[in-house]
Amino acid sequence: TAANSTPARFVFVTSEAAKARLLPLMSEGNRAKTAAAPVTLIVGMDLDFPETLPTLFPHAPGAKAWFADPAARRETAFRNSSLQGGYVLLAARALGLDVGPMSGFDAAGVKAEFFAGTAIEPNFIVNLGYGSDENLYPRSPRLAFEEAAEIV
Ligand SMILES: Cc1cc2nc3c(=O)[nH]c(=O)nc-3n(C[C@H](O)[C@H](O)[C@H](O)COP(=O)(O)O)c2cc1C
Repeated sequence: TAANSTPARFVFVTSEAAKARLLPLMSEGNRAKTAAAPVTLIVGMDLDFPETLPTLFPHAPGAKAWFADPAARRETAFRNSSLQGGYVLLAARALGLDVGPMSGFDAAGVKAEFFAGTAIEPNFIVNLGYGSDENLYPRSPRLAFEEAAEIV
């Protein structure tokens, strides 16, 4: 991550009680699968990540100041926590798990319920478990290389 900032913060929702707090905040189409998943991971991003830079990036004592602008701070937190969350998807799959990433949830509600009193905001949410073959449809089409990329 940029400047080793590692802004992602993770909440592994496993208990019945925590699931009950999360389920009403999931969009309707995401609720049943979130209820069924043994673990649901909330990938958050800490907008106060510059506070950790003296520890994480000690060779650049001025690093905190690079992110003084709130827009730069938010963009860095979002970009790098998204990468970290993506790596979690790859790591989980490498372990043989199935993953279900989701954007469909009430972000303000998840913020209030799981990150109150902090500068952490939810980025995306991931169901983790071993999928059954029920309700699966074939992998969706992908763009051809030429449609998505150019070599210049
Ligand atoms: C950040 C992100 C958010 C997503 N949000 C949802 C969601 O809210 N609900 C859902 O059912 N799938 C969601 N998906 C799953 C995608 O629709 C799915 O990964 C994509 O269509 C590719 O699926 P395939 O590889 O099985 O074809 C999301 C995926 C990502 C990476």
